[in-house]
Amino acid sequence: MKKYFLILSDMENKIRQGLYIPGQKLPSIRSSAETYGCSMSTITRAYAELEKRHAIYSVPQSGFYMVEKPGDWRDNRDSQMINFATVLPDLEAFPFLDFQHCLNKAIDIYKYDLFTYGEPQGLESFRHTLVSHLANDQVFSKVERIIVTSGAQQALEILAKMPFPNGKKAVLVEQPTYDLYLRFLETEGIPVYGIARTAAGIDLQELEQRFRSGEIKLFYTMSRYHNPLGTTYSAEVRKAIARLAGQYDVFVLEDDYMADLGAERQFDPIYAYDGGSNVIYLKSFSKIIFPGLRVGAIVLPERLLQTFHAYKIYPDTSLLSQAALEVYIKNGMYERHKHKIVSLYDSRMRALNESVERYNVQGLIEVPPIRSGIYTHFKLKPRVNIERLLKRLAGRKISVVSGKGFYLLNYLEREKFLRISISQTQPEQIDEGVKVIIEEIGKESK
Ligand SMILES: Cc1ncc(COP(=O)(O)O)c(C=O)c1O
Repeated sequence: MKKYFLILSDMENKIRQGLYIPGQKLPSIRSSAETYGCSMSTITRAYAELEKRHAIYSVPQSGFYMVEKPGDWRDNRDSQMINFATVLPDLEAFPFLDFQHCLNKAIDIYKYDLFTYGEPQGLESFRHTLVSHLANDQVFSKVERIIVTSGAQQALEILAKMPFPNGKKAVLVEQPTYDLYLRFLETEGIPVYGIARTAAGIDLQELEQRFRSGEIKLFYTMSRYHNPLGTTYSAEVRKAIARLAGQYDVFVLEDDYMADLGAERQFDPIYAYDGGSNVIYLKSFSKIIFPGLRVGAIVLPERLLQTFHAYKIYPDTSLLSQAALEVYIKNGMYERHKHKIVSLYDSRMRALNESVERYNVQGLIEVPPIRSGIYTHFKLKPRVNIERLLKRLAGRKISVVSGKGFYLLNYLEREKFLRISISQTQPEQIDEGVKVIIEEIGKESK
């Protein structure tokens, strides 16, 4: 059985790497069985599975062939462009066929149940799977406190709008922070304050003052792989945030959207230091699987459950997505994919840091020491004109994102920086990209 899966996975990898071109005939069953050192029935089964997944097709009396894939998303990409701007995971590394298999399996298991509305809090068995999945990240919770949401985004929106038992009204956000959440808070007219976060961390005394003010219902933070800075809080800071939350009865919303890219063992999120009385833990699957799944999960303190349920009365999260993800986690594919993608991104981050060291000899940019995740940032000198810099870089086929959008519109003590994402840059592009960025910053700094 195990051998069958290894062979199937090897065949998928070869297909993904483009070793077989569309229309090409695959090796015969006999010769594949010799290559893999297995029985012909194992190969027949693997080919049948690939055929079921529409990766290959059979021609009677002739053999198996690769399918033609019309309209591949790759065809629309500008292959010359070096993309440091993306928020998407590396779609080429995504185990498409594995996931397709999980979708089919989910339908087999749940049958018609998947074609109903389901429950607003999410698929019961998926929530049970999440109990042990989250425990791997030191997030221990009873199933009743876990609610599945339509992406982390939905939880962020509900928490911003709903009343809190501490009776306070404002949201405190780090500056900079996740740009789309800022735009949401501003558009909805939710009272919001900013507190500076830099590569060096956060001023805990200022945080305490804000908490003490009696205005803050919710402090939104990313304990690791901050978007856009890429940085992670030290254990001392995470511990202190948990302590202050309890002391001043402020709720902390810990957005652990990149938990799966964590290379460190035993990272304790803020949640782990408070046990879930004032800390709300938020999980996204968008950076590890793909955002189109629209599945996220939230672990809520007991005191918030009833109100959160009242704001999430619709069963609006795709049951098919939840069931497929459940199968994907339970059969170990998630864990396998996670290891693959972590080492892929780590090697790109390493390449980026090496290139920075190579080209930043004049110290034109400041770059924090980041080893994992997909983001880092290049801090610029105040006199650099970012708009002009971005135009020049676009002219040289490099896309990056300015730090400006990650601040509240009325927050004035902004740092100048570029957010750099490595999730879709190939190692051979990274060196060239960093070289050109630093060259152009050099021109702007004269
Ligand atoms: C910091 C942060 N939180 C949450 C999200 C949204 O996650 P989801 O796709 O699960 O809604 C993103 C998306 O990029 C993000 O950057």
